[in-house]
Amino acid sequence: MITTNKLKQKYIDFFKSKGHAVIEQASLIPENDNTVLFTTAGMHPLIPFLLGQPHPLGKRLVDCQLCVRTTDIDKVGDEVHFSLFEMLGNWSLGDYFKKESIAYSYEFLTSKQWLNLDKSRIAVTVFSGNKDIAKDTSSIDCWLEQGLPIERIAGLEENWWGPAGDCGPCGPDTEVFYWKENSKPVPKLFDPNDKGWVEIWNNVLMEYNKTKDGRFEQLKQKNIDTGLGVERVVMVLNCLDDVFKVEKIKEIYDFIKGLAKDKENERAIKIVTDHLRASVFILADPRAVVPSNTDQGYVLRRFIRRAIRFGRLVGIEGSFCQLVGKKIIELYKEEYPQLEEKKRFVLLELEKEENKFSTALANGLKEFNRISENSRGLSGKDTFLLYQSYGFPIEMIEEIAGERGITIDIDGFRDEEKRHQETSRAGAEQKFKGGLAEHTQITKRYHTATHILNQALRNILSSDIKQKGSNITSERLRFDFNFDRKLNESEIKDIEDEVNRVISLGLPVTRQSMKLEDALKQGAQAEFGSKYPDIVFVYSVGDYSKEICMGPHVENTSELGHFRIVKEESIASGRRRIKAVLEYE
Ligand code: ALA
Repeated sequence: MITTNKLKQKYIDFFKSKGHAVIEQASLIPENDNTVLFTTAGMHPLIPFLLGQPHPLGKRLVDCQLCVRTTDIDKVGDEVHFSLFEMLGNWSLGDYFKKESIAYSYEFLTSKQWLNLDKSRIAVTVFSGNKDIAKDTSSIDCWLEQGLPIERIAGLEENWWGPAGDCGPCGPDTEVFYWKENSKPVPKLFDPNDKGWVEIWNNVLMEYNKTKDGRFEQLKQKNIDTGLGVERVVMVLNCLDDVFKVEKIKEIYDFIKGLAKDKENERAIKIVTDHLRASVFILADPRAVVPSNTDQGYVLRRFIRRAIRFGRLVGIEGSFCQLVGKKIIELYKEEYPQLEEKKRFVLLELEKEENKFSTALANGLKEFNRISENSRGLSGKDTFLLYQSYGFPIEMIEEIAGERGITIDIDGFRDEEKRHQETSRAGAEQKFKGGLAEHTQITKRYHTATHILNQALRNILSSDIKQKGSNITSERLRFDFNFDRKLNESEIKDIEDEVNRVISLGLPVTRQSMKLEDALKQGAQAEFGSKYPDIVFVYSVGDYSKEICMGPHVENTSELGHFRIVKEESIASGRRRIKAVLEYE
């Protein structure tokens, strides 16, 4: 029996033995990449380094990263998909490439010393080429060299890891599959569409940058970005055929099953398991969001409300999200201490959202029945009513309509929404439209502005001020800090003036790499609650500010434009939040 923890330890040890440095988990809500709402893969926190910025820990990295993928939400309920999962990754930032990466993967999976998986159950896919990029024949050669038979190698056009936005670092990938069926013999010929094969590892061979105008140019450095699905590998290591039978996930599943009257509806119980697990981790994240109608908050709301709907469907009565939440926290708190630290907040938010939605769900379903009784479809107005008055996320309305074989007038719904000047869902769809290069440039400016603001607050308001969180989009920065009252107008003006003064001084922004303890000794600011590696970067804005930070930053403050605070508000007792923009004439 290999446990999840044992697998993670083995993976980290293996890659350490190959010269990789361990990096910490990043937040589920990306700090430096607003092309996505959540960290959907380990690459998001590493974008600047994939584009060539040096990483303080070197060119070979290894990590375990929690990921949230809403793209898979409809697949949850089968045997292999989650919307929250753990991914182990090894990274080469311009160091080794496909030959070594493939050799490492095969060694880790099959060698006796490591996972000792059955070689005869392994198969791989490689990129079969498209109009822009030729077939990846060298990966085939690398796999053959490892001893994999040719009938276990399949070419697929979809084996391409693209950027989350429209452009950015990308390349072919090669995926490792494992035959998970224990009662059926392994088919001689590999067919990736046969559900008996489960993808367990993806090696992205990142050698291109997709430009804004759709061209593929060679990256400055060739990178390796791999992702091994922790729960899936634990599943096959223990001869299981369903990820919901794995350890803690099974315990959550069984707990929910215990509450359910209809215990046969496995899919529904899996959905509740998965969605509440994702919700608990999102709520406990250091950059936590709460359920809302925009962006990450909307996704969280969808998870919780969909869990409630499926909970009701299997006959769970009364409130249950808190109960399940508590169970999840108990199970994971040792490994993820933030769950225990944020327990009260997590449970309260689950309860609030459940209270808001429970009655509305029952009434809304009645309304749904009434409206759809004599019709084959829901008008835009009806749909909007369910959405607005009963709080049904639009995807939920689509899903229920689909189950009942009726259509909904989505364009009519959008018109209604516009008429009511609702932008609620638009946020969830909003992704930064510009290219990644442009995105990185804007991020850099806001990042540097954040450092200046952080110091200005300490100079003007109180030397006790500490950063309690920050978030950057292409439109604004957001900065949370400890302070116990509202700022008055003259203070806001003083802060703006101070930041603009520093900008106009044209101070250079410089980076040094040093030991964490030395950085702290030098008085470099650190975000409260963040975990840092032993070696860190310290960014200095002239002599004005010094902070531990991964970057990226502009080179000189003169690149920043005019700084203006657009909002100052309370977010909790003793916590304030500033939103500010950089303006250019
Ligand atoms: N970024 C790759 C994935 O998530 C490894 O599959």
